[in-house]
Amino acid sequence: MKAWIEEDNINYEYIIRYLRDTIPERSGHIAEMEAYAKEHDVPISQPESIRFVEVLLKIAGAKRILELGTAIGYSAIRMTNACGAQVVTVELSDEMADEAQKNFKIAGIENKVKLIRGDAREVVARLPEDEKFDVIFVDAAKGQYMEFFNHCNRLLRKGGVLISDNVLYKGMTATDELVVRRKITIVRRLRDYLEMLKENKNFSTALLPIGDGVALSFKE
Ligand SMILES: C[S@@+](CC[C@H](N)C(=O)[O-])C[C@H]1O[C@@H](n2cnc3c(N)ncnc32)[C@H](O)[C@@H]1O
Repeated sequence: MKAWIEEDNINYEYIIRYLRDTIPERSGHIAEMEAYAKEHDVPISQPESIRFVEVLLKIAGAKRILELGTAIGYSAIRMTNACGAQVVTVELSDEMADEAQKNFKIAGIENKVKLIRGDAREVVARLPEDEKFDVIFVDAAKGQYMEFFNHCNRLLRKGGVLISDNVLYKGMTATDELVVRRKITIVRRLRDYLEMLKENKNFSTALLPIGDGVALSFKE
């Protein structure tokens, strides 16, 4: 099953290598953040996934983005730079949030990004819906996506896009053969989440096998 597939990746290694060769090389602060993430084991978006998000944001002309799961601010910075949108981003870990705040300053986008510290499940419940978001990027704890959903739906404008990252979860969502015992609950929750999106008449969803699997949902 896993022949030719690098550990943890859902695609053949040669495909990933080729996809990554087609993406503009990163330099400066962005490259430094990638190196920091690798060194400190911070799970930032895969290059091909964040590239996809950047292009999508340009097409969508996004002005307001909500991100759940900031980590060190890598995706928030790339999203802001891609389309100049205002980003509201939520992070549970103070250590991560401190690092993200430093990175927003270095990137010169402090006025564009609002970092909210706390559990996204509580934060999204508090956010007012008078100013809806054009795009919501869900990239926090994978077992909590369903809990975020009703509020994401409430906060997303009609015609807006919900992007859910890591939904194929190293391939485990797609086949029991890959499921490791300690991840069973997360895998079940991700399967339920994708089933719910499939059945949801208010959203049109496409599942893309890039990075760790991206669900792209258009709000009708
Ligand atoms: C995959 S990382 C985010 C990566 C980031 N979006 C990027 O691509 O640069 C997930 C982050 O979500 C945070 N997180 C997990 N559960 C959360 C929750 N319930 N509320 C807020 N943040 C959460 C983790 O602390 C972690 O930093």
